[in-house]
Amino acid sequence: MPERGRTLLFFKIGGSVLGDKRRVRSFRVRTVERIGREVSGFLDENPESRFLIGHGGGPMAHAPAAEYRTREGIPGGGGWEGYAATRLGVIETNLRVISALRRGGLNVSLVSPSAGCIARDGRAARWDIGVLRRLIDDGQVPLIHGDVVLDEKRGFTILGTEDLFAFLVPKLRPARIILASDVDGVMGTPSGKTSRATVIKVIDRSNLEDTLKGVRSGWLGHKRHDVTGGMKSKIIALADLARRYHTESRIISGLKKGRVRAALDGDSAGTLIK
Ligand SMILES: Nc1ncnc2c1ncn2[C@@H]1O[C@H](COP(=O)(O)OP(=O)(O)OP(=O)(O)O)[C@@H](O)[C@H]1O
Ligand SMILES: [Mg+2]
Repeated sequence: MPERGRTLLFFKIGGSVLGDKRRVRSFRVRTVERIGREVSGFLDENPESRFLIGHGGGPMAHAPAAEYRTREGIPGGGGWEGYAATRLGVIETNLRVISALRRGGLNVSLVSPSAGCIARDGRAARWDIGVLRRLIDDGQVPLIHGDVVLDEKRGFTILGTEDLFAFLVPKLRPARIILASDVDGVMGTPSGKTSRATVIKVIDRSNLEDTLKGVRSGWLGHKRHDVTGGMKSKIIALADLARRYHTESRIISGLKKGRVRAALDGDSAGTLIK
């Protein structure tokens, strides 16, 4: 836990921000550089703030994960071949993310979950987070990411950044969570027509169920795969953290310039889950 008076933020750069999941080799290098600048600019002005950043799989990791059904583990069909192929896609993404953030002025320290976290049937079960705590206490920015991890039941599985945040929230107690994605927030369609969708400002107890009914994967005409569940499972995971630990999350666009910085400064664009 950060020292007294210090605020810890969890921030996710979604896989849909890193690249277009329909194009395996795509990577939005300028976008990630800009996000690095927005975070480092915020840190320059708020030196007491602490960050833990996570990045999503991105196209290079999603493609083998989908092909080998890596999340299902050994019963999924791809066996350890799938494990190796998916890990390689993750590592290629790691290098691109770290380099781009650094060019944006933000140095991060990679802590790959695969090296320390053990899952049980698709959920993070054990993870010695001493290194994460130490980095945060030293004013450094640890970078975690969706990863292939060993699983006591499945052999291995994939844990997305939200799964890892769920494990870390009760231990590190961040003040809030910000998630950058390729949409302006959670879109709602009161009329049932996608063309009428607008950003839902707040999701809480009162509208959670209705919102989930309206959210589906592959929305916006993109036939995209998301091996860790897409927007619906994201909302369920974040609502659970809000209910259990009162930790609020905000989903914003990572593609639009200035939105990350604005959210860090407390702006209300996007969707707040509380
Ligand atoms: N109602 C909705 N509002 C917004 N996005 C939605 C909705 N329903 C489905 N989606 C889809 O959810 C996607 C965002 O979820 P996704 O899991 O891809 O986010 P991410 O965190 O950026 O990526 P990753 O999980 O790979 O890191 C959007 O690109 C959109 O296609
Ligand atoms: Mg996802």
